Amino acid sequence: MDTLVKTTHIPVLSREVIDTLGVLPGGRYIDCTLGSGGHSQAILEHSAPGGQLLGIDADPDAIQRSGERLKSFDKSVLLVNDNFVNLKDICIKLDFFPVHGILFDLGLASPQLEEDGRGFSFQYDAPLDMRFSPTQRITAADVVNTYSEIELVRIIKTYGEEIHSRQIAKFIIQKRPVHTTGQLAEIITQAVGGRHGKIHPATRTFQALRIVVNHEMEHLESALSQAVSLLGFGGKIVVISYHSLEDRIVKHFFQKEAKDCLCPPEAMTCSCGHKANLKIITRRIITPTFAETEINPRSRSAKLRGAERIIAPTHQYEQAVEQLNCSIGLVTGQWRRPGLIEKLRKTFLSMQKNKPSGRK
Ligand SMILES: C[S@@+](CC[C@H](N)C(=O)[O-])C[C@H]1O[C@@H](n2cnc3c(N)ncnc32)[C@H](O)[C@@H]1O
Repeated sequence: MDTLVKTTHIPVLSREVIDTLGVLPGGRYIDCTLGSGGHSQAILEHSAPGGQLLGIDADPDAIQRSGERLKSFDKSVLLVNDNFVNLKDICIKLDFFPVHGILFDLGLASPQLEEDGRGFSFQYDAPLDMRFSPTQRITAADVVNTYSEIELVRIIKTYGEEIHSRQIAKFIIQKRPVHTTGQLAEIITQAVGGRHGKIHPATRTFQALRIVVNHEMEHLESALSQAVSLLGFGGKIVVISYHSLEDRIVKHFFQKEAKDCLCPPEAMTCSCGHKANLKIITRRIITPTFAETEINPRSRSAKLRGAERIIAPTHQYEQAVEQLNCSIGLVTGQWRRPGLIEKLRKTFLSMQKNKPSGRK
């Protein structure tokens, strides 16, 4: 095991996040992945005076860490310990919509990687846990010790993009029960015939397990669509991803939401009625500079994409948001006119009650 020095989390692409979100004084923002509060702090500094921030994290330790960091912003901050898959419900409950910008900085914060007992890293010997929140039921140990060989092959291949998935799954089945990250890293190293190259052979399997334990792909897809409906007209959504699977979801989601029709190309007329909700504002993905990766090697794989909400009311609630946004405008301060917000809230809540079941 390598020795790890505990570090604080350095926010990745911080300047680029602020620029792409277009942070305005007096704006309202949501940081869906609070972590250590680095991006939130930057957003609060740039949205002063009068800015408001709702910070969400599934990990209670992240809420505590960032609470300390952001305490000087006092009444401008609301912190919620929850999964961002519940984004819309959280915002309705707190009356926190529409907003000027929403940020997702996916993955893990440095302290999570380096804390004893979280089991995210093969560099620390710890119980195989990997849950973002202690309230989740399934741990990585449950997956490793109870899934069938076929299932293990599938998840290691799909979510780890690991070419040795069959061999690794076979070794896991032979050696289980597996209780610790150290044991699992050793089994994987044996399965692939030792360490070759810079990247540890367990990297991809650990990524796959973390994704499965935390339902990362499903939650991201769901949260992205919820986020769009919470953005005011001209509001921005920014996502930083750290591996190709996440980035693909974000890219496809933005591309889909930026199109007016989703019918197959051979269709003569549109039957889907889909209207563009977003305009992509990062024509090329934004990646860290060499200087940033030198200071913060963990930023190396970061990819930032951003999009802007454009008018496209697709159902009653969104029409109400659009109408109110148009009348409120994007002028700083006017967003938070209590009468208008209250009207919007009531309209939204009554529509939530009347909406057809199954709709998020
Ligand atoms: C890369 S860190 C964010 C770091 C943060 N931007 C900063 O500057 O300190 C990602 C954070 O998102 C949280 N997270 C990941 N998936 C989540 C989810 N589905 N719901 C809520 N929080 C999540 C993790 O617990 C972690 O704290």
